[in-house]
Amino acid sequence: MSSQPEQVKKLLIADLLKMKEEGRKITMITAYSYPQGLIVDEAGIDVILVGDSLGMVELGYRDTIPVTMEEMLAHTRPVVRAVKRAHVVGDLPFMSYNISLEQAVANAGVLYKDGGADSVKLEGGQEMARVVETIVKAGVPVFGHIGLTPQSSGQLGGHKAQGRTTESARALIEDALAIEEAGAQFLLLEAVPPEVAGFIARRLSIPVYGIGAGPECDGQLLIVSDLIGQFQAFTPKFVKKYADVAGVVTAAMKAYTADVRKGAFPAEEHCYHMLEGEEAGFRELERKYGK
Ligand code: KIV
Repeated sequence: MSSQPEQVKKLLIADLLKMKEEGRKITMITAYSYPQGLIVDEAGIDVILVGDSLGMVELGYRDTIPVTMEEMLAHTRPVVRAVKRAHVVGDLPFMSYNISLEQAVANAGVLYKDGGADSVKLEGGQEMARVVETIVKAGVPVFGHIGLTPQSSGQLGGHKAQGRTTESARALIEDALAIEEAGAQFLLLEAVPPEVAGFIARRLSIPVYGIGAGPECDGQLLIVSDLIGQFQAFTPKFVKKYADVAGVVTAAMKAYTADVRKGAFPAEEHCYHMLEGEEAGFRELERKYGK
């Protein structure tokens, strides 16, 4: 019998495609750090997005617009180091792929090659098809993102659900078809009616993930900080909170503060005493250096 630890097999794009084909739901969550990557991967999540949402939930920006490539790289690398099984997606931040095809390919290459991500995500529909096609042709798998695209929320008139009228649903369907046609390996739909998202998921061959897009998508995404109840500034309608980390951590901080103030921490079991036989020497030091 071998005592070798069991090898964890990395999920390939082909494995995720097979899950769609076999009707097995795919789980996806964001993560931004090494410890989060470890926990999320151990828990068996299939796809991890190092999203530019980190600008809000980790770095304290008002929105995702100020996030830089350097920041994305700094958060992608530790997650990649932590993950053994999940597919890791690196998010291209605002203005890192919007200026030219050369810029888009170069930055996709940075997250893929230097960051170690398994694919890169970018926002936009038909207008981004050429960019998607060029990045894919350069050898980097792409995760499309349409519907509510936070990087263009200024143009969308805020963080609003998309595809709620027939005309807007038609635009979404055309965006989805264009992104698949351009060669993207995955598509994310954000804040889209379930009937529209379900149609797109059935219509496309690539796995379609939803965040606020109903139960018929091939996979589901949530922001880790929302799911565990850590980010409290606001909670979108589509979030289900599975834990109250902010509550648990606040209670722990209050208990620690109270213990320190009343002298209950540290206790005997938290102390390192001097080695046996050193007491006499130390008394001597006290006499020599004491006031
Ligand atoms: O950055 C992110 O986490 C995202 C999600 C909001 C979809 O893009």
